[in-house]
Amino acid sequence: MTQSPTAVTPTPRARVQAMKEYHPPLGSRDRMRLDFNENTIACSPKVRETLAAISAGSLTRYPEREPVEAIVAAHLGLRAEQAVLTNGVDEAIHLLFETFLEAGDEVLMPVPTYTMYEVYASATDARVVTVQAAGDLQFPFERLVSAITPRTKAIAIANPNSPSGSAATREQLLELAQRAPQAVLLVDEAYFHFHGETMMDQVGALPNLMVARTFSKAYGLAGLRLGLLAGPVELMRWARRVLSPYSVNSLALACLPPALADTEYLQWYVGEVLAARSEFEAALDAAGVRRWPSRANFVLVEIGARHAEFVQRMRDAGVLVRDRSSDPGCDGCVRITIGTREQMKQAAVALRDTMAALKDGGGAR
Ligand SMILES: Cc1ncc(COP(=O)(O)O)c(C=O)c1O
Repeated sequence: MTQSPTAVTPTPRARVQAMKEYHPPLGSRDRMRLDFNENTIACSPKVRETLAAISAGSLTRYPEREPVEAIVAAHLGLRAEQAVLTNGVDEAIHLLFETFLEAGDEVLMPVPTYTMYEVYASATDARVVTVQAAGDLQFPFERLVSAITPRTKAIAIANPNSPSGSAATREQLLELAQRAPQAVLLVDEAYFHFHGETMMDQVGALPNLMVARTFSKAYGLAGLRLGLLAGPVELMRWARRVLSPYSVNSLALACLPPALADTEYLQWYVGEVLAARSEFEAALDAAGVRRWPSRANFVLVEIGARHAEFVQRMRDAGVLVRDRSSDPGCDGCVRITIGTREQMKQAAVALRDTMAALKDGGGAR
């Protein structure tokens, strides 16, 4: 006799039941990719050569991260014990929250900001406390400081921030670290190369500062999933207890030293983006599109009620951009990644045509 199925199934933690799945729009992207703030061209040719030389036999081994961690630590002026490599900065955020947050704790973050802070924080038993930026989307320093309580255990700051492109100053970050000594202050420098300011030199000097870097943006390695988390040795010891020893794969580990060594390529790409950003900002101004000043490889623009149509028309013109209108305080906003000058010239043409079509009423859609 077959047993009738029982109604009892495993249930996840209450916090997980309250979460929604997060599905970034990664499908059908065979156009100009100005939607995910990636490098829009390629990684260094030196990385490409390294990948091509990887043998089938080497893939049979588990990856060994320590020698590469020592190289990247030295590159950043850190001691090896102060840094871990992660499966993208996303794993660094997850790791940090898993290591430090428990029931009753608060995670503080300004919004709008990078989505994954809230995703990972929501999956812990800590309370998520958000501080809304004003209409200028500048770093809401004073309000953030006022929101610190004795229960604040982590503060997540993307610097520069996405999707706004605004940045906190070094003085503000130093003061935040001092005002919340019981909290880990994560400064996520995913867009460091386009901004040029860093808190990395304070790692180890401040007992609660952690700095993250990604290889997904300027280095052009988003597909390999490679990030770095740096902090004082005492805090890194706790994080290492939670970290998977295998989460950074051997292809990524093999590619990191040549990526770091090819400073010429990195400088070329960053220079290209910064020049393209000024030119594209001028094109936005000429088209009468409101924009926020940016310290990163993207620009947030205000399109208004027809933001979804704007995104679709840009797509039809061969350019992918990202609708951010559901981010807090970003009603009607779209984020446009900055690529090379050549690409942004094409994007500016698509922008002009799209804005003209929107003004005309643009026919049935
Ligand atoms: C502020 C910020 N941090 C981290 C990431 C993701 O980095 P990774 O690809 O290393 O996980 C992004 C990606 O858009 C980002 O905007």
